[in-house]
Amino acid sequence: MAKRPWLRSLRSRLLAGVLAVTAIGLAAAAIVGVTGLQSFLDQRIDQQVKIAMADSKRTLGPDGQLMSIPAEAGSCSVAVIDAAGNQLSHAGAVQTMPTPPVTDLARYAAGGAPVTVTAGQDYRIQVATLPGGRFLLVSEATAWSDAVVYRLVLIELAVTLIALALAVALAVGVSRFVLKPLDTMSATATRIADGELSHRVELAGAPTEVAVLGQSMNQMLGRIEDSFTQRQLAEDRLRRFVADAGHELRTPLTAIMGYAQLVRKGALNEPEQLDDAMRRVEDETHRMTSLVDELLLLARLDQGRPLDRVELELAELVTVAVQNARAADPHRSLTLIIEPGAHPVVGDEHRLSQVLGNLLANIRAHTPAGTTAEVRVSRAGSDELVDVIDQGPGIPPEQADKVFERFYRADTARHRVAGTGEGSGLGLSIVAAIVAAHQGSAAVVPHRGGAWLRVVLPAAPVAEFSADSEVTPMSFRG
Ligand SMILES: Nc1ncnc2c1ncn2[C@@H]1O[C@H](COP(=O)(O)OP(=O)(O)O)[C@@H](O)[C@H]1O
Ligand SMILES: [Mg+2]
Repeated sequence: MAKRPWLRSLRSRLLAGVLAVTAIGLAAAAIVGVTGLQSFLDQRIDQQVKIAMADSKRTLGPDGQLMSIPAEAGSCSVAVIDAAGNQLSHAGAVQTMPTPPVTDLARYAAGGAPVTVTAGQDYRIQVATLPGGRFLLVSEATAWSDAVVYRLVLIELAVTLIALALAVALAVGVSRFVLKPLDTMSATATRIADGELSHRVELAGAPTEVAVLGQSMNQMLGRIEDSFTQRQLAEDRLRRFVADAGHELRTPLTAIMGYAQLVRKGALNEPEQLDDAMRRVEDETHRMTSLVDELLLLARLDQGRPLDRVELELAELVTVAVQNARAADPHRSLTLIIEPGAHPVVGDEHRLSQVLGNLLANIRAHTPAGTTAEVRVSRAGSDELVDVIDQGPGIPPEQADKVFERFYRADTARHRVAGTGEGSGLGLSIVAAIVAAHQGSAAVVPHRGGAWLRVVLPAAPVAEFSADSEVTPMSFRG
């Protein structure tokens, strides 16, 4: 490539190709034409020579005088030459004739066929022996046929040059027309490189092949733009997450620092005051620890680290979680309804317990004391469902998706139940992340009344659930 920089552009290659093909075609046509004409004229001269020879032999007078030769013999001339090389008579076209030596005449006569001799100019001659050592010599100059061929060569040359010029002009025009969409495409690419990500290649009017290329390019651009936007969104999300996390961590730290200053300044001299301050410091430290744990868990889930994949009975997990919730809040009626049958899932026991724990903790945190609630485990097709339904204030439809966002807390004045402490707003986002890591989903089910949260997990295939880990092909027999 680098060796032939002039062939680097498509346009010049197209031009070179058209030129080469046209030139080869025209040259071949010219060569065939010229050689064809040449051999036709040669044949014709030989034919005329033979006619003149035959006619002269036939009409030769008894003492060797020649009649005029027929018109078909063209511009041949005929001569009778004696053994000494003297011309006795001649006929035909008035012209200088070649006069080869007698020894040559004898040789030509022996050969029989016409031969070419040069004497000032080229001639085709044929010689026959006559009685008495004489020779009959027929000749025709080939100059006129050479002139015709020369003329044809000139004409072919002129035609070739004109045709090449036309081909170049046509190729330039066509390449401009054909390559225009490519120019447009490269202009588009440049605009995109300059940051206009939503710009697309114009497809209307482009030839099919270019349109196909343009279409794939547009598809690719769409993907690039999508992934770019997605990355932008992810970056924004991360930035917001870090800012929110910092903000959340700052609140308990400020409180702890406040109490520490009070203690240092000796402002808390009553033992109960000091006790109270220390208890609050402890509370805040607890809050911070659990917040950091939650953040670490989310970070780990974000990294997509593999979770445990153990066969679990969902009904058992839910039963344990409900028992824990009842123990934490004995005055609340918490009903558990388990659809008969197995509820196998594959997953991480600890994480799935955390999902159930978070959902049940939200009932304690966001519904008034004594509010009744219900937990259901059921099967729907190839999914296992866990529904957590309470009779509390519920979640407004416009917040149904937002509650799964990180650090999102709904209007606290309306929902939050006094004495439960302030949640971090990470509980449901952890639920969503864990469930997603199990190829499941979590959502708020729209309905009148309290909150209804549903977790969907893919049911473990029964074969996988109960299969012996040491199954061999043998056990499939029969
Ligand atoms: N059972 C529920 N009843 C009413 N609102 C709820 C319930 N569960 C969750 N929410 C709302 O969803 C928000 C997000 O929940 P969550 O992510 O667990 O954060 P947190 O509990 O720390 O506030 C809560 O602030 C609350 O407004
Ligand atoms: Mg919560």
